Amino acid sequence: MRILLIGAPGAGKGTQATLIGERFGITPISSGDLLRKHVTEETAIGRAAKEYLARGDLVPDAIVMDMLRKPVVAASASGGYVLDGFPRTVAQAKAAYETARGLGVAVEVAVYLEVPAAELTRRLLARGRGQDDTPEVISHRLEVFEAKTRPMLDYYALREELITVNGARPVTEVAWSIAVQLQTVLKRA
Ligand code: AP5
Ligand code: MG
Repeated sequence: MRILLIGAPGAGKGTQATLIGERFGITPISSGDLLRKHVTEETAIGRAAKEYLARGDLVPDAIVMDMLRKPVVAASASGGYVLDGFPRTVAQAKAAYETARGLGVAVEVAVYLEVPAAELTRRLLARGRGQDDTPEVISHRLEVFEAKTRPMLDYYALREELITVNGARPVTEVAWSIAVQLQTVLKRA
């Protein structure tokens, strides 16, 4: 099974990716976690990405695509993936589709976690992850989501691959709701 999770910062992508991975026996892949690991390890990718992460801006597509190609192909060969945080622009979605289709590893279902902005901000301030959970950077990340990522929802909706889930409920309820909807879609496929 090949799934992707779309959601604003704090929507619960990472939390739900872990749960979906366990439930369906597929590999969670988080573009944000991988980028943060590169920054910590001071790799070439990490050095190129560092300032973008600190500002809450998107890292250039080429860097993210190069970083993800191997893990996505490897996960696809061993049961599938649940992508968290990639793609997050229409351009990334289109480029990923072109690459993945050729390899037979294209996304089957996109899941959108819908959460009101006030709840997103509350969660991120409570978490306080590194440099990007400050009030200023959070508000910029939310703007970037609205401007760059929200248009991607139409892209997947038009392809009839989009499930929307109310993410403003307790973690286990959200997980249950995703699982039920995924099973319905996959039965139909
Ligand atoms: P990324 O790491 O993807 O961060 P994000 O999108 O800002 O989202 P978060 O990880 O903050 O939130 P989440 O949705 O995973 O929620 P979580 O489960 O943690 O990206 C970071 C940066 O990397 C970007 O700004 C950009 O610079 C770069 N980047 C990444 N991907 C890129 C790409 N494709 N292209 C270019 N640049 C890219 O939950 C948040 C908190 O809420 C946690 O404390 C959690 O415990 C809590 N929580 C979760 N669910 C619930 C619930 N149901 N109820 C109550 N609390 C909950
Ligand atoms: Mg995350």
